Amino acid sequence: MIGRLNHVAIAVPDLAAAADQYRSTLGAQVGPAQNEPDHGVTVVFIDLPNTRIELLTPLGEGSPIAGFLAKNPAGGIHHICYEVSDILAARDQLQAGGARVLGSGDPKIGAHGKPVLFLHPKDFNGCLIELEQA
Ligand code: CO
Repeated sequence: MIGRLNHVAIAVPDLAAAADQYRSTLGAQVGPAQNEPDHGVTVVFIDLPNTRIELLTPLGEGSPIAGFLAKNPAGGIHHICYEVSDILAARDQLQAGGARVLGSGDPKIGAHGKPVLFLHPKDFNGCLIELEQA
């Protein structure tokens, strides 16, 4: 079902400092900051030869990553995104097997303009999984 690793997301308390570290210290291709009000985050994507890194910081009140940063004030790996070819078929198959999809269960449009879903970390070894139709 799952295909390529689309990105690894890291929640950070200071997006500008983290982006600058990837650009200056690690010599990576760092994109511009994008506000994602539907997801309560501001993101920066970093292009690597084989995948991307998504730096995330809270945007607005009630951001879904505010609690994560409260528990991990220095930041930390927040989720891993895998590509699927058909997100509704993937969701239906996973739900039939007992996996929990976060939120309403309907895909939202993610940071790349494509439908995404999140799977409950307790069902996947403590790892929050994002599925993106790609
Ligand atoms: Co993501």
